[in-house]
Amino acid sequence: SENGLALTPPMIFNSWAVTGCDISQQTFVDAANTLVDTGLAAAGYNSINIDDCWSAAERDADGNLVADATKFPNGMKWLGDYLHERGLKFGIYADAGTKTCAGYPSSWGHFEQDADTFASWGVDLLKLDGCNMPSMDGQTSDQVLQTAYTQMSEALKATGRPIVYFESAPAYATDLPTVLSWASQIGNLWYSPQDGSAESAQYAGPGHWNFYTTLKPQDSTSTIEKQAEFSMAAQLASPLVFSADPATLTAAEAETISNPAVIAVDQDPYGAQGTSVGTYGNVTVWSKPLANGDISVLFSNSGDTNERASLTASQAGFSIDAPAYSLSNLWTGQTTQSAGTISADVAPHGVTMYRVTPLRRAAPGAAPATDLM
Ligand code: GLA
Repeated sequence: SENGLALTPPMIFNSWAVTGCDISQQTFVDAANTLVDTGLAAAGYNSINIDDCWSAAERDADGNLVADATKFPNGMKWLGDYLHERGLKFGIYADAGTKTCAGYPSSWGHFEQDADTFASWGVDLLKLDGCNMPSMDGQTSDQVLQTAYTQMSEALKATGRPIVYFESAPAYATDLPTVLSWASQIGNLWYSPQDGSAESAQYAGPGHWNFYTTLKPQDSTSTIEKQAEFSMAAQLASPLVFSADPATLTAAEAETISNPAVIAVDQDPYGAQGTSVGTYGNVTVWSKPLANGDISVLFSNSGDTNERASLTASQAGFSIDAPAYSLSNLWTGQTTQSAGTISADVAPHGVTMYRVTPLRRAAPGAAPATDLM
């Protein structure tokens, strides 16, 4: 989007995958305190996105959206202030159709009014869902999506408040490439149904990102699988959205999604989405060029046994031969050096993720680089 926001992928807490509609003011007060206390806020997770079911069953007499007064006794402006006082951003949910996915009042026919309401509450991010879209004479369902999502984009801009725009439209698309092409121009992030495909990669960059998957630090998958999922999200420059029970999330559970070296790959200002550069048995290798000339190289093993894979620096994406490369393993913290082959042993369902730095030729007259090999 051209609104100048989300120059790196947003990092968001969203309770939906854990709580669904069972939310209250306390859910998000707890989430704010958990983000700060566990260090997740300092690690970059600075946004809380309230999802569906925050609304009262009906608009007020003036047609304004209002919060459910039982779930949110102090109202949404109060909650926004609470988050802002803790250095956090306030995200909310709406739907572009005639009802939200859970059946609450929705923004069709009210785009400007709702955008103004959100701005008056201090909202910093809007997730706009696409359930219950009406049909329009002479328009395909994709065209109705485009009409509605464009109206909300314009309405958000017209508020004058910087509001990051998160679109669910691609999840409801019939012709996905067409929907991705306009959604990426009017929004900052969007649900992207095809994990890491080259087709979706072309739409990613500073200000506009493919969002692939919600991270769940408390689910039953292994640490290796959680590291793999998180590494892949970072390699794809995906917004990092996680869902957890804020009242019980522990610092240990937060640890994987707080890895600063992996977060740095996700948040790299160059903003390239990683792409697949080769497959070796069950191991797929992904390459993401970084702003300082390094490349993040991710080996992902879909098989059930350990596998070893090797490729050359040129296959990994380096265009100029360096005399040697430094390989920093982003999960073990170990650094090794190589004259040009990039190899990894990859655990089943796991990843090996390197930040690869080309080592420069020694300056003329400098001591020989005896440490390089
Ligand atoms: C859809 C979305 C979810 C959530 C629910 C809310 O299912 O995909 O992320 O927002 O609606 O009802």
